[in-house]
Amino acid sequence: MRHMPSHLTPRCLRCEYRENPLGIDVTLPRLSWIVESASRGDKQTAYQIVVSSTPKKLDAEEGDLWDSGKVPSNETIQVAYAGKRLASRTRGWWKVRVWDKKAKVSAWSEPALWTMGLLGDGDWQAEWIGYDEPLKAAADKRELAGAKQGEKPPADDLVLPPPRYLRREFRLQRPIARATLYSTALGLYEIHINGRRASEDYFTPGWTDYNKRVYYNTYDVTPLVRRGENAIGAVLADGWYAGHIGWGHKRDHYGSKTRLRAQLEVEYTDGTKETIATRRSWRASVGPLLEADFLMGESYDARREVPGWDMPGFDDSGWAQPNVTSRVSAQVQPYPGVTVQRFAEHKPVSVTEPQKGAYVLDLGTNLAGFARLKVKGRAGQKIVLRFAERLNPDGTIYTTNLRGARATDTYICRGGGKEEIWEPRFTFHGFQYVEVTGYPGKPGPDAITAIEITSATPPAGEFRCSNAMANRLYANIRQTQRANFIDIPTDCPQRDERMGWMGDAQIYIRTAACNSDVAAFFTKWLVDVEDAQNPDGSYPHVAPRKVAEGGGAAAWADAGIICPWAIYQVYGDKRVLERHYGAMQHFIEYCETNSKGLLRPAEGFGEWLSIQADTPQDVLATAYFAHSTDLMARIADVLGKRDDAAKYRGLFERIREAFNKEYVGADGRIRGETQADYVMALAFDLLSPEKREMAVKWLVKDIESRGWHLSTGFVGTKDLMPVLTDAGRVDVAYRLFHNDTFPSWGFSIKQGATSIWERWDGWTPEKGFQDPGMNSFAHYAFGAVGQWMFETIGGIKTGGPAYESIVIRPRPGGKLNWAVVRHESIRGMIATDWKTKDGKIFLNVTIPANTTAKVYVPAASADGVLESGKPAAKAEGVHFLRVEGGAAVYEVASGNYRFEAPLPLDVSRK
Ligand code: BGC
Repeated sequence: MRHMPSHLTPRCLRCEYRENPLGIDVTLPRLSWIVESASRGDKQTAYQIVVSSTPKKLDAEEGDLWDSGKVPSNETIQVAYAGKRLASRTRGWWKVRVWDKKAKVSAWSEPALWTMGLLGDGDWQAEWIGYDEPLKAAADKRELAGAKQGEKPPADDLVLPPPRYLRREFRLQRPIARATLYSTALGLYEIHINGRRASEDYFTPGWTDYNKRVYYNTYDVTPLVRRGENAIGAVLADGWYAGHIGWGHKRDHYGSKTRLRAQLEVEYTDGTKETIATRRSWRASVGPLLEADFLMGESYDARREVPGWDMPGFDDSGWAQPNVTSRVSAQVQPYPGVTVQRFAEHKPVSVTEPQKGAYVLDLGTNLAGFARLKVKGRAGQKIVLRFAERLNPDGTIYTTNLRGARATDTYICRGGGKEEIWEPRFTFHGFQYVEVTGYPGKPGPDAITAIEITSATPPAGEFRCSNAMANRLYANIRQTQRANFIDIPTDCPQRDERMGWMGDAQIYIRTAACNSDVAAFFTKWLVDVEDAQNPDGSYPHVAPRKVAEGGGAAAWADAGIICPWAIYQVYGDKRVLERHYGAMQHFIEYCETNSKGLLRPAEGFGEWLSIQADTPQDVLATAYFAHSTDLMARIADVLGKRDDAAKYRGLFERIREAFNKEYVGADGRIRGETQADYVMALAFDLLSPEKREMAVKWLVKDIESRGWHLSTGFVGTKDLMPVLTDAGRVDVAYRLFHNDTFPSWGFSIKQGATSIWERWDGWTPEKGFQDPGMNSFAHYAFGAVGQWMFETIGGIKTGGPAYESIVIRPRPGGKLNWAVVRHESIRGMIATDWKTKDGKIFLNVTIPANTTAKVYVPAASADGVLESGKPAAKAEGVHFLRVEGGAAVYEVASGNYRFEAPLPLDVSRK
């Protein structure tokens, strides 16, 4: 347990979800903090926020930008700044103090900072520069350097121009107070200042619809610049802008000419300023990077390195003049998301040589990232790395499922008897195995290290329990989330897709939020979603919309409504609802217009990858139409739009009626009679109470008829377990959860899965690999069971938006006899920790200060329930409510509790 302060203390200050964000453009940014206390039932009764333009003023409590004064309020999240107008480059140093329930004031929090970015076009002096000459050369037949005469370069039909190098030198005359870099690209960029990288971020500026908007990043680079001579350099690669995306070997999706726009603003201690900006006066060239592409991989010829290119004093007289694009139509805005960063390093767990000279290294887990190569080779020696998720029976790497993704990195040695270390910068792969050819001798333990990367969403969850398979499943869920949260939520990291598939995202978003703070990450992507909306109001299949054109697919398009609602539920974010409200309305109109008698036609992918079950697509589509409309009514309520709410509620009722009339029999059977049918109808509240009961019966009967197995695909699996649990059949949910026979989560684990598979039958002993065209081993949809694990095993659920009231209802059952589950919510840490022993349950609960919870202690009756050794009903902060469903229910105030109770006889019906 973390150390808890004795009084209410504000900490963890965030602005627009991020700690100390630089260069934002939200003119009334929302501030959040967490209050902590060691005593039970502590509450914030008031707060004061001070925002100052300098740390000194902040120290003196001089809120020259804003002093909220004492505001009587218990709010700790989404408090909108209400001070002076924030101009470009403004620095807002801020702190907060709070008053507790006894009206005692806390100390001030630690100071935090946000800065405003370049808010107007006029703030930009930098031009968009690039270097187009190498493009032509690449389009001609290329040869990989180092390839022997007559040897064909791999996939020689590919156009893979080399990344460009851009540079200039500059002199800083006076002592420097601060240097800020604003940088972006059409393509991917990496900036170096005086030989050092300006940031640790990968794949900046992220993926957007570059025709509409492109983000820039803001970095404090004060430590990198110095008085006197300096150099700034950049490497510019194709990335999402010009490189390959999706299937079909297609590139140049937004344009072919990559461009960099960077502006380094230096403030001297005397208050004067200097701006170094990209212009025609920079110099351009190519370097050791021969190719860099997300899907195809990176090639690097160390013999072509240009030492000192990013340092002052370098002779660039042989470099060319850059090309300049005078007009870029996209809006240029600050990056609102979560950048991709290194997450972990993995050493190989084994090395084999299934074919002469082709070594296969197993990194132990199926991740997204790349390999660091360490080698001592002769000049020109070519080492080729190929990546795969699985192995063929003969031990060679299985690459069929990568389809059009070449996923090959090539390194050509500098030579000279020294050890060389190389990592790519502008590509990543989804892999567990690396095949190394061309290596001098057998690769040693250091030859290959996997570098795992992911969008750096702050961790927010922990799950452990007494069952090893469940723990493995949880690890696999986390792993697959990291592998697919790469600037946007993608479907998979390995094959030629890696796109923002909408269905996958809506199915998984709540689980994602249990594991990590995904608020900023989804805030960014929801803009991509709106940018990708079709003119007819239908949301697309993928956002940003590329390759998989189209829209309106049931359960995919609906992400446009489901995801903002999820963000509101988890983070209390009303602005995200407001911002996208018009688009959401347009989508409901689209559904209504395209429905017949309120039945939504069979549009889209249906119950994708279900197993031995065929859910009628129109049943699914209509169920989702109802659900989205229901959410729309709730969204309208939240935004105080009463008329809209009534309208959508009425529409929901009518869709529900149509659904029942068309699809639901008198005996409660739903057309298709699949598990997904019943799950959707129950989850979306489409049935009358009697029909609900019947539906539960049919659902369980179908599961039983399959020897207690599921048949659901992406869509049904999302709600299957919560539906069973809410219907009083947590016993059946546990049976599915613990299964290790096909199809089940456990089945993949039995086959050694270290990630969540796209399909239940990705590999089976009988058939081997499934349909190679579509068989990813890192797709998170089936990992949506993670939400159930948090909410049912851990018993941690929000009772309304943003965990202000919390429901704690762990359901011991199945094979479990203990579990530890924690979620760092936007209001602080919520934790449960239970074990069952000798007919008793011991349940420890942590509820963050300033929130309340209903705690369901599994118990036959309220008698005999203890808290910290005393009768629970009498304990401080605990108020007995009732006995319900095998649990004694208490209202509790914030704090730590230790409950103990005799277990009911049937904690779960076996
Ligand atoms: C993707 C999915 C996606 C689906 C649509 C696939 O190719 O990988 O995850 O949702 O297409 O049906």
